[in-house]
Amino acid sequence: MKTITARAPGKLMLLGEHAVVYGYPCIVTTVGLYVSATVTLTNDHRLTISTPNLRHQKITFQKPLDEIGQDLSVETAFAEAAVAQILARAAAPTGLLVHTDGPTLSYGLGSSSAVTVAVAAACAHALGLNLTNRELFDLAYAAVLAAQGKGSGFDIAAAIYGGTIWFETAGKAIEPLICPELPFLIGYSGAKVSTRRFVDGVAQLRQRQPTHIERIFQQISELTKDARSALTNQEWQRLGDLLDLNQGLLDSLGVNTPPLARLIFAAREAGALGAKLSGAGGGDCMFALSQPADRQAIMAAINHHGQWIDLPLGVPGVQITVDDHTYNTPNRSPRSAE
Ligand code: MEV
Repeated sequence: MKTITARAPGKLMLLGEHAVVYGYPCIVTTVGLYVSATVTLTNDHRLTISTPNLRHQKITFQKPLDEIGQDLSVETAFAEAAVAQILARAAAPTGLLVHTDGPTLSYGLGSSSAVTVAVAAACAHALGLNLTNRELFDLAYAAVLAAQGKGSGFDIAAAIYGGTIWFETAGKAIEPLICPELPFLIGYSGAKVSTRRFVDGVAQLRQRQPTHIERIFQQISELTKDARSALTNQEWQRLGDLLDLNQGLLDSLGVNTPPLARLIFAAREAGALGAKLSGAGGGDCMFALSQPADRQAIMAAINHHGQWIDLPLGVPGVQITVDDHTYNTPNRSPRSAE
C-alpha cells in the first residue's frame, strides 16, 4: 500500500498582521521549519492521528470516520479539520492513519498552518484528489477557520506557495515577491501564546474604538504597500523605517509585551535598521533587519534577551513524496486569485 508524505513550512509575518484579518494586505515569508504528515489508508473505518505534543510525547487520537470534524479535540484540531475538508470532497476511504511530525515548540512560526496544509495535501493525494494550489488553499483555509474560528489565511498561503508573498485577506490576492535577499534575524521571546486570544483582543478593541482602529489598520496597510517595493528593491533603510512604524502601530493595538519589546529595542540598539514583532504578538517572535556588519552584534543582543532562531527564509512551499518521488502541487507559482 502506498504511503504518502507531505511537508509544509512555517512562516514569518513581515508586515500587516492583525490588519490582514480585516481586509488589508500583508507580506509574509516562509521559514525552514517543516511539518510533515504521512497518510496510509487502512480498513478499520476510523481516523487515527498520531502527533507529538508540546512535551515531545507522541499522542494518539482515534475517531469513527463518520464523526470526523465534530467536537475537534484541542491537540489534533487542525489535522482533523484538514481531514474533514478532504473527506467532504473525496470518495470515503475505509480508514485513515495520519502521522504528523515536526518541531514541537513552534515559536509561533506557523506550525498549525503547516500541519493543516501537510495533512490536507497528503490526504488529498492518498484519496486521489488532484488539487491545484488554489484548491488546496481554499480547503486548508476552511479547515483553519473550523479549528481556530478566525484568521486571514496568510499562513496557509505561505505554507502552500512558499517564498515571500503579498497576501490579501482570505486569498483575495496571493502574489509572489521576488526578494533577492531577506536579511532578517529572528528572535524568540520565550513565551508561546495563543493566536486566537490576541486576534479576539484586537477584535474587542475594534468594537470599543471602531473609528480609531480602522484608521490604524488603514495606516498599517499604507506602510505594507510601501514596504513591498522597499523589500523587492532592497532599500533597507526605508524598509527599516517602515518596520519600526508598523511596530509602533502594533503597540497601539496592545499586542506587544515587555519581553518582546526588550528584544526589539535591544536589536535596534545593536544596529538593526528596523525591528518588529511578527504574528499575533503577546509573545512568540520578533525579527530585526540587519546589515552584514551588524549581524553578530544583533544576534548577541537577541540572545541576551531571548533566543536567536537560525532558520532559512523564503523556502519552498508544500511538497508531496510518494514512494521516494517528491513533487509539488500543480500551479506552484503564486498568482492573484482568480
Ligand atoms: C497571526 O500570526 C497573524 C494575525 O494577523 C492573524 C491572521 O492573519 O490570521 C494576527
